[in-house]
Amino acid sequence: MTILEHSPDVWDANRVADADRRHVWHPYAPRHGATGNLVVESASGTRLRLADGDREVIDGMSSWWAACHGHGHPALREAAHRQVDRMSHVMFGGLTHRPAAELAERLLGLINSPDLAGDPLTSVFFSDSGSVSVEVALKAALQYQRGVGHPERTRFLTWRGGYHGDTQGPMGVCDPDGGMHSLWTG
Ligand SMILES: Cc1ncc(COP(=O)(O)O)c(C=O)c1O
Repeated sequence: MTILEHSPDVWDANRVADADRRHVWHPYAPRHGATGNLVVESASGTRLRLADGDREVIDGMSSWWAACHGHGHPALREAAHRQVDRMSHVMFGGLTHRPAAELAERLLGLINSPDLAGDPLTSVFFSDSGSVSVEVALKAALQYQRGVGHPERTRFLTWRGGYHGDTQGPMGVCDPDGGMHSLWTG
């Protein structure tokens, strides 16, 4: 029998840390053994307010760049509220909507600025993380080679010292020797 040290309905910092320790596997950490994750209660601008009292810490990594404009930026909050009130998520298979079409057009406008070299890009494929974007790019390259009659062309050229994410495909093109994914060499 498990005896809970905390009331199951009170999610104070200890209760969060306890449930986290028992059930949550964090990235870049062993399943068991990673302890001492700071419990964040709220975030604003560059700072994270911790749940164990009045402590604040600076989020110097912008939450792995996902909050590069700071936490709770008024313009982003307003846009997110407006969008969620209208529709939070609609699948992309056979459906589309203005936010996606408009974002694609605006991104291409930025990418194809006259200052940048190369042929203009014409298409956007949306994905939900950096790792998945690399998965998509690898797959698109393989699909292209199959489409032009070269299914045997399956090797990738990649940077020495590169890091491209933490899912299968990106790990396969990370630095095989010096990178953090050397376990997956080959
Ligand atoms: C160059 C590069 N590609 C991909 C990723 C993975 O991004 P995500 O954590 O969104 O999967 C990272 C993350 O550090 C990265 O630096």
